[in-house]
Amino acid sequence: MELIISPSVLSCDFANIQRDVELINESKADWFHVDVMDGVFVPNISFGFPVVEAIKKHAKKPLDVHLMIQQPDNYINQFRDAGADLLTVHYEACTHLHRTIQAIHSAGMKAGVAVNPHTPVDLLQEVIEELDLVLIMSVNPGFGGQKFIKNAVLKVEQAKNLIHQRGSRALVEVDGGVNLSTGRELVLAGADALVAGSFVFGSDNPKQTIQDLKVLKA
Ligand code: DX5
Ligand code: ZN
Repeated sequence: MELIISPSVLSCDFANIQRDVELINESKADWFHVDVMDGVFVPNISFGFPVVEAIKKHAKKPLDVHLMIQQPDNYINQFRDAGADLLTVHYEACTHLHRTIQAIHSAGMKAGVAVNPHTPVDLLQEVIEELDLVLIMSVNPGFGGQKFIKNAVLKVEQAKNLIHQRGSRALVEVDGGVNLSTGRELVLAGADALVAGSFVFGSDNPKQTIQDLKVLKA
């Protein structure tokens, strides 16, 4: 399977969202990574439904929506209506995780669960068969441009083993501090999808940078 590249629009120019969405449309990227932060689960606020809708209006690729919010259950249908194709919630934010996953599927979306750097992958063992995506955080969520936490590489291997053992279809995505060097390590460990924000939008040629990430897996 080809490596999936999901550029994070958190690092785009918000005064020119349409231009940056079209840049991703024209690139080799596969998904749009859309980071929603509530200022409670994480110490930052990004954007909500109107911005997700604005991205969807121009996006020609699926929206990979990463919710860094408390009580995501209250907003599942609204994110579906705003255009999410894949909805990822945090393990640490869900008391009834199994129910949340079911609700995402019932709303017609793919379901992902993200784990913070301190959360063991093993905690997903009872729901792994229900999941379409496991999102390994390789930074503490809240901000773009942070330093990659190396332990994420090991967690990718652990997630792939768990998925294999349980016969799950889940893909493994990694988010935070991804560049060509960390990306290469993650691909070797078995990552299926890479999120990249500042590395893509902070580069001189974002389309070329996306292409460079894409070919980390030949
Ligand atoms: C962090 C977000 C990331 C962020 C990644 O909380 O979930 O998706 O945009 O940014 P970089 O690639 O700059 O680490
Ligand atoms: Zn993210």
